[in-house]
Amino acid sequence: MNDDTGNTSEQGREQAPTVRPGPGAPLYAAGDTDAGAGANNGDATEKLVIFDTTLRDGEQAPGISLDPPEKMEIAEQLARLGVDYIEAGFPVSSQGDFDSVRAIARSVHGPVICGLSRTHVSDVDRCYEALRDADMARIHVFISTSPEHMEYMLKMSPEQVLREVHTGVARAKEHLEDIEFSPQDATRTSVDFLFEVLNEAVLQGATTLNIPDTVGYGIPWDFGQLISLIRREIPGDYIISTHCHNDLGLATANSLAGVQSGARQVEVCINGIGERAGNAALEEVVMAVNIRGDQFPAVSTSINTEELARTSRLVSRLTGYPVQYNKAVVGRNAFAHEAGIHQHGVLSDRRTYEIIDAATVGLQGSQIVLGKHSGRHAFTASLEKMGIHAHGDVLDQAFRRFKDLADRKVEITEADLEAIVAEEIGMGVVEGYVLESLEVSGGTEGAARAKVVLSRAGSRVDATAEGNGMIDAACKAIGLATSTDAELAGFNVSSVTGGIDALGDVVIQLISDGIKVSGKGVSTDVVEASARAYLAAVNRLIRAKERNREQLVRPGDTGP
Ligand code: KIV
Ligand code: ZN
Repeated sequence: MNDDTGNTSEQGREQAPTVRPGPGAPLYAAGDTDAGAGANNGDATEKLVIFDTTLRDGEQAPGISLDPPEKMEIAEQLARLGVDYIEAGFPVSSQGDFDSVRAIARSVHGPVICGLSRTHVSDVDRCYEALRDADMARIHVFISTSPEHMEYMLKMSPEQVLREVHTGVARAKEHLEDIEFSPQDATRTSVDFLFEVLNEAVLQGATTLNIPDTVGYGIPWDFGQLISLIRREIPGDYIISTHCHNDLGLATANSLAGVQSGARQVEVCINGIGERAGNAALEEVVMAVNIRGDQFPAVSTSINTEELARTSRLVSRLTGYPVQYNKAVVGRNAFAHEAGIHQHGVLSDRRTYEIIDAATVGLQGSQIVLGKHSGRHAFTASLEKMGIHAHGDVLDQAFRRFKDLADRKVEITEADLEAIVAEEIGMGVVEGYVLESLEVSGGTEGAARAKVVLSRAGSRVDATAEGNGMIDAACKAIGLATSTDAELAGFNVSSVTGGIDALGDVVIQLISDGIKVSGKGVSTDVVEASARAYLAAVNRLIRAKERNREQLVRPGDTGP
């Protein structure tokens, strides 16, 4: 409820003034907790709501095209991570999106399930239809409000947009209590008009006002000021949310500035994926609030941070978007120390050069979980412990891959296991071609040759090709066997763990008819890993083309 300053009672508590350590004063005193003296240990009094939009805004990133079972797997992991809201999709955009929002609403418990909707009554009704079986649901209604969007995209006057806000939010409120409203491109909207639409949304029953920095135009202090102004000027019973894009690399900073100014929800994506330069990264915002509790004394989140690394790997694997090595919090170098002086410091006391304990984000190093003599029972038990549930053919195939790997690699780590099993689960999910065998030959002289045998729905197909190197030959053979004509748009090799027998992890991006997809493959042999990645991308391309034929509205279509 607002007090007479326009603050909601939840938000109205003044934040403690920022306290910086004085010159020479230690930031973290010896003996402090891992997260340091500034750590937000959870006894803060207000909740910072974590609204994850990986499956909606994240999925709008170029080249990402998740199948409904893949979305379900991510949603289940987000629930384990402890997010408060999962924005599961944009139900009116396609039958596939509708189906996956409905499936998630029906079977994922814990978080509130949210669907995005334009302001049209029929869109709102369709969104509700997808959500109606959820334990808890929210409709997120949006419309553009900046001059650029209203004039060139919507072709509507401000008065028409205002009427749309009225209609859309009022209709959503007939279905549910929990309604979010977003004035798209808010940071380029005139403040007066922004206040008009926000007031209208609150009058019609919006309980969350989301302020999207749609094109990543905001600067932290400016964005923070906008949030303060909204709190002061818009009366009503609502909480403010931030939705920051990363075009200037400021999405996390802007979100945090919003929180400091009273926002109590942040919209974020795992690994910061999303349109163009992406959205604010969940792991960055959450860990900043946790580690620098001295700067955010009024809030805490319910995120189970030990699940961050696993969630990041899952999203990377299923989207085909690699996590950059130096990515904050979850990048492979986030806890690596190269310089001698740093290594010496960290060996003496981790806190000399680390502000986060790797264990708190689930990166405590890869323990050896299984070896050559481990049987099916131990294998299945390890998967269950890691939260991976595989059954039937997928489990059989994954076990075969594990045995094969155990013959080639002495120590099998949790990360290795997760990589091979997830690849098999991915293959099972996509229901495409399976690599039965690969033979390659080549050397420093002459062309390389490859023969592949693939199977699909019980029938086999093979092809032979020559190429400029063994990887090229293997990919060409797969292209011939699957009749795929696609251009290679990206190729990246890394290793899952260290050592000469490490699993090679290959990500390949393909483009065909304007559709960009990626695939991942792992093996101790980099040619085989490349063939697997190429085949995974081909399978996704086939599915994406099928889905494109079904697409009704694209996520970028905001007009009525
Ligand atoms: O960036 C944006 O404006 C959005 C809205 C739909 C909230 O994603
Ligand atoms: Zn967005």
